[in-house]
Amino acid sequence: MAASPQSIDDVAAGLRSVGYLPGESTALVSFLAAKLGKPILVEGPAGVGKTELARALSSYLGRPLIRLQCYEGLDEAKALYEWNYRKQLLRIQAEAEGAGWQEVQDDIFGEEFLLERPLMSAIAAEEPVVLLIDEIDKTDQEFEAMLLELLSDFQISIPELGRFAARTRPIVLLTSNNTRELTEALKRRCLYLWLDYPQLEHELAIVKLHTPDLDDAIARKLVEIIAMVRELDLKKPPSIAESIDWARALLLLGADDIDNEVFVQTMSVIVKHRTDLDVVAERVGMKLPVRAASAGQP
Ligand SMILES: Nc1ncnc2c1ncn2[C@@H]1O[C@H](COP(=O)(O)OP(=O)(O)OP(=O)(O)O)[C@@H](O)[C@H]1O
Ligand SMILES: [Mg+2]
Repeated sequence: MAASPQSIDDVAAGLRSVGYLPGESTALVSFLAAKLGKPILVEGPAGVGKTELARALSSYLGRPLIRLQCYEGLDEAKALYEWNYRKQLLRIQAEAEGAGWQEVQDDIFGEEFLLERPLMSAIAAEEPVVLLIDEIDKTDQEFEAMLLELLSDFQISIPELGRFAARTRPIVLLTSNNTRELTEALKRRCLYLWLDYPQLEHELAIVKLHTPDLDDAIARKLVEIIAMVRELDLKKPPSIAESIDWARALLLLGADDIDNEVFVQTMSVIVKHRTDLDVVAERVGMKLPVRAASAGQP
């Protein structure tokens, strides 16, 4: 059943109950979005939980998730709707001979011949949904302009059919990795949430949630090292996703400590550029203790 949050704490508890640990502003902005009916623009580096927030909101609020994954060249036909040409053609062929153009046209431009794409599905949904427009920065500005009507009025216009207004108000999340600046017009229509790498204790809680079997001391050491690695000037600093992967890897390998050896063995789980690997091995790996047994070996 669809839930309706009554307070910021409600949202925070709800998100936690489905395995998402929100920061303060995440709970606040999500609450406001649900209450004000405004879309949220979520920006931040890769792997900090932008997409996951939409999933978590959908399961906590009991609303289906409709997802539009953006990419370069995405157009209305793939995002909004498309006419089902084949079906239209069949209909024209089946039409009695001698039928006038007007009759044919009235026939083939009906809802029955529309192929719904994600944005249209969200508008047409009978039940309230969560609409995730993921990685909006990958599209071009024309696509953004097309979204404006949808985001401010929750409606879309189809030339042959007229205006479609949403039956229920979806909760809309747009995510962006900031690869390009979004237009002011788009930002004005949204609430803004900046998700950054989390504070140490927050990340520790997330890592523990995903790998409850990992030893506490190792988990803490892991997030401390991750924080150190993020301090370096890397091409791609490790994200929460990498912290979780690393924790899983250490658990699987049965590591009982993160010493220099274990670190060098497993650091490719958190660092994924050739040059970054060198920097990290030198600046962080060197600081970790060398295991006594292997210390004496050549
Ligand atoms: N606050 C959180 N609570 C629980 N898990 C989290 C949290 N933040 C991130 N995660 C976990 O981190 C991983 C990465 O999150 P997600 O895929 O949402 O990142 P993203 O910001 O969408 O990244 P990208 O920009 O690369 O798409 C997921 O496995 C998710 O479960
Ligand atoms: Mg994502």
